[in-house]
Amino acid sequence: MSAAPGPAQVAEKFAAAFGQAPDGVWSAPGRVNLIGEHTDYNDGFVLPFAIDRTAQVAIRLRADNTARLLSGYGHQGVVSLEMATLSPETMKGWTAYPLGVVWVLRQMGVDIGGFDLYLDSTVPTGAGLSSSAAIECAVASAFNELCGAGLTANQLVLVGQRAENEVVGAPTGILDQSASLLATGGHAVFLDCRTQESRLVPLDLAAAGLLVLVVDTKVTHAHATGGYAARRASCELGAEVLGVAALRDVAAADLAVAAGLLDAQTFRRVRHVVTEDQRVLDTVAVLADAGPAAIGALLTASHASMRDDFDISCDELDLAVETALANGALGARMTGGGFGGSAIALIPAAEEPRVRAAVVRAFADAGFTAPDIFAVSPAPGARRVL
Ligand code: GLA
Repeated sequence: MSAAPGPAQVAEKFAAAFGQAPDGVWSAPGRVNLIGEHTDYNDGFVLPFAIDRTAQVAIRLRADNTARLLSGYGHQGVVSLEMATLSPETMKGWTAYPLGVVWVLRQMGVDIGGFDLYLDSTVPTGAGLSSSAAIECAVASAFNELCGAGLTANQLVLVGQRAENEVVGAPTGILDQSASLLATGGHAVFLDCRTQESRLVPLDLAAAGLLVLVVDTKVTHAHATGGYAARRASCELGAEVLGVAALRDVAAADLAVAAGLLDAQTFRRVRHVVTEDQRVLDTVAVLADAGPAAIGALLTASHASMRDDFDISCDELDLAVETALANGALGARMTGGGFGGSAIALIPAAEEPRVRAAVVRAFADAGFTAPDIFAVSPAPGARRVL
């Protein structure tokens, strides 16, 4: 993949397209979720970190009510519209992400008139690495500052989520936007999705001689359709039958009783969420007590739960996980919403060439599309970069 453009280059591209310098450039990262999958919309716990793949937006406010948007990583031309026509129904394609955020902010009373916007991103789309949240968080941060809205990071998280839910149409939780907005370098974000309380957890992989390898299987997914919404509906059904506000309120010790009350499939969905919440808490405790080398088994158990109970893995993800584990990984799991996207493997840094080669070979032998494999480490969250 080509080198990421720096903020100055993004500003230059903006100026070339719109004839003037932008008011500023804002950046927001994609994420990998270390552990805690499909727990966010169940009021549970997650432990993501930001990666050094980012969306960058250059924006200049205009005196009129025209919005013009250009994407540097698609091939579309400038999209132009009048702000008076802005509604969830009129937003199509990539512009739904930035315009969705603008629409939500305007609904909240933030006074946004016309603007020019140029977007670039190095977060691969459809790879389970939160490319859409990266755009939403960069745009939300930009308008928050440019319009003096004074919203907190947690409020911006909800702005991004609302854009995703009400404009894009994906019934997602707050994991991705929280990672993108709250992260700092060298740390994971331990988040309670019920209260939005969060804590930064040190995650110095390099000091432990480790790295996290992402295997992007190239199997793309879209959470606005299909399986994601079905899983969420199963969880809501499970909570309703069990008489709790959310699956967060079900303890592991309650599972035996739950088995007798739920149909077999709903029970497996519930068991994933309940055990995954516990694995997040255990991971945070093990990180503090013994460091990252000791969390491998929890990651691998999380994958098994998603594969067997939540049914959101696929052959490519399972192969990536199994191959990494057979070649020196301490733990591995799919990350993100599932049904494709990426797996992560926690590996001793010295094993990187071996794991990479083995995964490439295994995918070729299976006749799968060649995966994209790259190392990530905890990177900073959303911020102004120019
Ligand atoms: C997607 C969603 C998140 C979360 C994860 C699964 O990334 O956007 O809200 O539900 O899937 O953990």
